[in-house]
Amino acid sequence: MTHRLTVIGTGYLGATHAACMADLGFQVLGLDVDETRIARLAAGDLPFYEPGLEEILERNLANGRLRFTTSYEEVAEFGDVHFICVGTPQKAGEYAADLTYVEDAVSSLAPLLHRSCLVVGKSTVPVGTAERLAERIALLAPADGDAVLAWNPEFLREGFAVQDTLKPDRIVAGVPADQGAAERAEKILREIYASMLAEGTPFVVADYPTSELVKVAANAFLATKISFINAMAEVCEAAHADVTKLSEALSYDDRIGGRFLGPGLGFGGGCLPKDIRAFMARAGELGVDQALTFLREVDEINIRRRIRMVDLARAQLGGSFVGRTVGVLGAAFKPNSDDVRDSPALDVAATIRAQGGKVTVYDPQAMRNARRVHPSLDFADSVLDAVRDAHAVLLLTEWQEFKDLDPHELADAVAERNIVDGRNALDPERWRAAGWTYRALGRP
Ligand code: UDX
Repeated sequence: MTHRLTVIGTGYLGATHAACMADLGFQVLGLDVDETRIARLAAGDLPFYEPGLEEILERNLANGRLRFTTSYEEVAEFGDVHFICVGTPQKAGEYAADLTYVEDAVSSLAPLLHRSCLVVGKSTVPVGTAERLAERIALLAPADGDAVLAWNPEFLREGFAVQDTLKPDRIVAGVPADQGAAERAEKILREIYASMLAEGTPFVVADYPTSELVKVAANAFLATKISFINAMAEVCEAAHADVTKLSEALSYDDRIGGRFLGPGLGFGGGCLPKDIRAFMARAGELGVDQALTFLREVDEINIRRRIRMVDLARAQLGGSFVGRTVGVLGAAFKPNSDDVRDSPALDVAATIRAQGGKVTVYDPQAMRNARRVHPSLDFADSVLDAVRDAHAVLLLTEWQEFKDLDPHELADAVAERNIVDGRNALDPERWRAAGWTYRALGRP
């Protein structure tokens, strides 16, 4: 049987999931409480930058498989399976996750569930949330319905969202303790993901808390790996060693592997930083905060890279930013994204501005978002305009466009040939040969 799907919450996760599931052949109805967002999506206008996604959105709007609404009644009436994809941001002034959107989604949907259906949580939540939401659904759902909750965490990366959704590394299905309900949930999820399972994608069935933990544990591990190599970068700087060579040599050990071992300005974005903080907060509530105190160090190593970057840039300029012009390349938290949430690049740019520098920023995709968050920074429409008359150039997000830059061409635009490579993305020899003073994090 083909299930009719709904996707509640149409941010990065929800919009990608809705469009990709429609592309697999399902009828999909997406819901958001933000009317402007829904109007844009319904018109085929993706509200954020994600390579390849807009074509899939347009294609499935045109073939009629994908529609959008703001009505929970319509969603409850339509769906056999409801995916909850709303955000769980960090609470203001606290480490814990803000579950308001998840709770609102469940409270709005559950009382309308007159049909037999599966509710599938995909949002990243603190362990224990699914159990609580299942109780809430049981309490609120009408007697004629038969709603079961499953937890199915999403691991997609921005910039690779389509690929990660259609060809995931694994599918995790968190199912209820009741055996009948668990079997029903597993069967439906297997039917929905049948094409991926046929290609051999591992399918891990677990209880609710384990499935919730898989997601945060994965992000904690990735953050730890990045901070590990950045801690090595600190040691390398003190010992006059080269962290990029160290990282390369480590990567040949299969037990370690080279991915997420890229030294530089560290991690940012809407997930890793807030997820490790929410994980620490939750461990504290569970009375096992000691188990995760190392994540505080992971977070601190990460933040220290930003401070070190500012220090390196200041040193390049002879000890002060006052009266000096700095060209900043990159604002997004990583390349192939327009997301500036907790962006290391923007953080560095804003700090230098606060210390008296005249900072001009260019990013291929994130300018609109960056302007909104930091209106006091100056922005330019091209690399050359951003670095014009600069006393130092900082590379803070490793877009391909920046890796391909010609040091000779840039040399003619700047006032002084100083470059600090915050992502270890450039070839130092090439830049030095063109007369630049090249500095990078973790390298002599
Ligand atoms: C992450 C997880 O990868 C994904 O599985 C989860 O679902 C959401 O969070 P994302 O936030 O899109 O995805 O970004 P990711 O590609 O993981 O990069 C995170 C940050 O780490 C970026 O700021 C990136 O620049 C940084 N990073 C990554 C490094 O500093 N070094 C590396 O070697 C890799």
